[in-house]
Parts: sequence; structure tokens; C-alpha cells
Amino acid sequence: MGDRVEIFEMGPRDGLQNEKRAIPVAEKIALVDCLSRAGFSRIEVASFVSPKWVPQMAGSAEVLAGIARAPGVRYAALTPNMRGYEDARAARADEIAVFASASEGFSKANINATVEESIARFEPILDAARHIDLPVRGYVSCVTDCPFDGPTPPEQVAAVADRLFAMGCYEVSLGDTIGQGTPEAIAKMLLAVRDRVPVTRLAGHYHDTAGRALANIDASLSLGVRVFDAAVGGLGGCPYAPGAAGNVATEAVYDHLHRLGYDTGLDRDVLNEAAEMARAMRSGAQE
Ligand code: HMG
Ligand code: MG
Repeated sequence: MGDRVEIFEMGPRDGLQNEKRAIPVAEKIALVDCLSRAGFSRIEVASFVSPKWVPQMAGSAEVLAGIARAPGVRYAALTPNMRGYEDARAARADEIAVFASASEGFSKANINATVEESIARFEPILDAARHIDLPVRGYVSCVTDCPFDGPTPPEQVAAVADRLFAMGCYEVSLGDTIGQGTPEAIAKMLLAVRDRVPVTRLAGHYHDTAGRALANIDASLSLGVRVFDAAVGGLGGCPYAPGAAGNVATEAVYDHLHRLGYDTGLDRDVLNEAAEMARAMRSGAQE
């Protein structure tokens, strides 16, 4: 068996948050229940953000209440502020995530805060989570390019990743939010981040807008990253990042990693089933 690489499934959150059609909670629950059979350790299923900002995630508490929780799977939720934290806790999320940006333009557009203000908002979340041993993941968006500010200097990414890690995030996921990163840019960025945060605590979160996500995963593997975020069926995008396409498809990452001799511990047949379901959930695709 090859070296283990983990895929963190994003479909029910990053995948669905951008869909135009109001997806019924029952469909979301069915997707999560299918994914729970695939062998993931972590699935992001919810987002406790303002429903005015992201209407698609409004049913997050119902999703967490309705899923059949499989043993050994952690069901994760995004939390932008203490209100989101309290809601995620009440809904019994197994882990939460705070999300920052490496660029000011996207930070303002996505969470209506400067990078510094957003980190100040995360402090009480991390404090509260620490008290109850709730794992907190950290995201850094726009790690190579920002739709508003242009190219992101690697040092800026390293500084934000370092802050999130120092605050207590157990892992920092590095987001190529608009999928414009090249393997060279990803490598430069990772070299800077790796100087500050152990590579074993980093994850790659690559959107596939320009079709380079797998090449970016290769660049990351060669620098020691062993966790990648992906969404079944290549679902997704960010409503506040113009031009952001879906996350790289979980099935494509699976096939790529297995071709390279890595093991993901996932069941490819169940992934097919979930990808099929995800595609049918796409805007207008449902009968
Ligand atoms: P704001 O307007 O500055 O904040 O938004 P506010 O405090 O003035 O609140 C506005 C309204 O939202 C108020 O309601 C609040 O009560 C309510 P009103 O009084 O107007 O009726 N509110 C909430 N409701 C539910 N849950 C909450 C919450 N907080 C406030 N937690 C805020 C600031 C952060 C709330 C807003 O900007 C927001 O929700 N942004 C989220 C945007 C988002 O979810 N983007 C997508 C996820 S990030 C992403 O996809 C990137 C990632 O995948 C990595 C990558 O690809 O790079 C992670
Ligand atoms: Mg994303």
C-alpha cells in the first residue's frame, strides 16, 4: 500500500454554497449520507454564515441534525464569528473552521472585514473552542491570486497562515480561491508558508478554474503536503470571488493520487455514486 494522502471532502459546503437553485435540505442530507460511506475522515457539511450573504447555507443546522453520523467521520462547519460558533456548537459540528484571506480585497468582499479585523474576530472562537476541545481548522484564501488585488505575495500568505496556526488552528488550508495559481506560484507560496507552519499541518485547497488543480497538487506533494480539499463532481465556487469555479473534483484527485501510488482509503464506487448525485443537484439539473 502506498503512502497515505487524505482528501477532505468539501462538496456539501464549498460545493453547494454557490448553487443558484435553493437545494432542499433532504437532498443535502442524502449527499452527505452517501459521502459518509466513502471512507472520508472529514467532510465539510455546513456553514454558519449570514443567510443574507450566502442563502444556500441557510439550512446548515437542519443538515447537521438530519445526517446519519458515521463513526470515525468528523462533520465540519464554517464559522465567521461568535454567532456562527454558537450555532455550530448547538448543531453539534465535530469541528469548525475559521476563514481568513491573504489579500485585503477578498477579505472585505467575503467577510466585510480587513484581515486584521477578521483575525480579531477569530480569537474568541479559538478561545471558546479550546475550552471544549473542539478542533478548529483555518483557511487562507487567495494564496496566489486575488480577484480584486491581483497576485498575492507569498510572504503575505505565510504571515496569515502563521497567525492562524499560532492561534490554535490544528491545520491551515491554503486556498487558490479563483484557481489561477500555477505550479510555480504554488511552490513559491508553499516554500514561504512551510518556513512558518510545519508542512504536516498544511492542506491544499485548489479550485480548478484554469484546469491546473492537479498540477498544483503535484507541486504540493513534492513539497510534502499530504492533505487536499476537493468536492465530488467538481461542485462549487465562492459567491464573493468573481470567476471562481468549482473545487477540484474528488474523483479526479482520487484517480490522480492512486495513479501516483498513493492511498486515500476511499471507495471509488461510492465516490462515483456521490459525484452522480452532486451533478444532479447542480442548478437546473434536477427534474
Ligand atoms: P456583516 O454584514 O459585516 O455583519 O457580515 P453584521 O454583523 O452586520 O451582520 C449582518 C447580518 O447578518 C445581521 O442580520 C446579523 O445578525 C447576521 P440583520 O441584523 O441584518 O438581520 N449575522 C449572522 N447570521 C447568521 N449567522 C452568522 C451571522 N453573523 C451575522 N454567523 C459576515 C459579516 C461575516 C457575517 C458576512 O460577511 C458573512 O456571513 N460572510 C460569509 C461569506 C461566505 O460564507 N463566503 C463563502 C465561504 S469562504 C470560501 O468559500 C473560501 C474557502 O472555500 C477557501 C478558498 O476557496 O479560498 C473557505
Ligand atoms: Mg473554496
